[in-house]
Amino acid sequence: MADKDDVKEGKEFHINSPQKNKPFFLKGSGALDWGMQNRLAQIFNPKSGRTVMLAFDHGYFQGPTTGIERIDINIIPLIPYADVLMCTRGALRSVIPAHTNKPIVLRCSAGQSILTELSNETVAVDIEDTIRLNAAAMAAQVYIGAEYEHKSIANIIKLIDTGTRYGIPTLAVTGVGADMNRDLRYFSLATRMCAEIGAHYIKSYYFEPGFEKVVAACPVPIVIAGGKKLPEIEALEMAYMAIDQGAAGVDMGRNIFQSDSPIGMIQAVGLVVHKKEKPKHAFDFYKDIKADENNS
Ligand code: R5P
Repeated sequence: MADKDDVKEGKEFHINSPQKNKPFFLKGSGALDWGMQNRLAQIFNPKSGRTVMLAFDHGYFQGPTTGIERIDINIIPLIPYADVLMCTRGALRSVIPAHTNKPIVLRCSAGQSILTELSNETVAVDIEDTIRLNAAAMAAQVYIGAEYEHKSIANIIKLIDTGTRYGIPTLAVTGVGADMNRDLRYFSLATRMCAEIGAHYIKSYYFEPGFEKVVAACPVPIVIAGGKKLPEIEALEMAYMAIDQGAAGVDMGRNIFQSDSPIGMIQAVGLVVHKKEKPKHAFDFYKDIKADENNS
């Protein structure tokens, strides 16, 4: 029962201490509503301002590719080391334990396979299901310059509009077709378009030269995809250069789950992303973890 007796009057109002109004830490996100900022602050570490997203959504168009044949065996052990999990709702519901306390970025586009035209996607998750799954953000590919460019832009607009209604941010993933150059001209166009359309953060690829110009011209945070599997030291160097040039983190899949020590690699990537550890040091860390695993 509510106790109405002996209610104590407020005494200390700190009259001389004006309430602080700190700006939100994330680039271009200061004017967003509380729920949107709160979800972004789950995705991006407020201390470093960056994130290590573990991407294992590849099955939605590639099937059981190397390293994620068994999400239960390949991915679950990595969860403690990731800041964010990026996956499909199918993987989430069927395999990821619901007690997982990591924010989920939900793959919300699909509709094609590696056997067909990649840009021919549609919105594949209803906003109600996104809410039901307690996702921190939605993600969809945007294929600038591809056959279904317009359709993919319409998909991201739909996600941004419905997500905005409920305070759920949208990650635009710049998809690159086989015949497109991964260069400054392409990524400055694609990332800027996604930001102007209203995406809350953008996934790009790292490239040289000029990546820092893409970051500078994009008014919201950019994270980089890992892309094809590289030798571990090269993947760490790529992550380092991207962070050094202003990226707000990585959304990395194959360079983690196809590594010969995924647990070592995801932690090494975390050192680079959050602590700006030099690639060589992070690589030594990865080798130590790998050696420990081999000796146990
Ligand atoms: C592509 O299918 C997905 O968007 C992946 O999540 C993304 O490409 C990141 O994975 P990776 O580091 O393997 O490129």
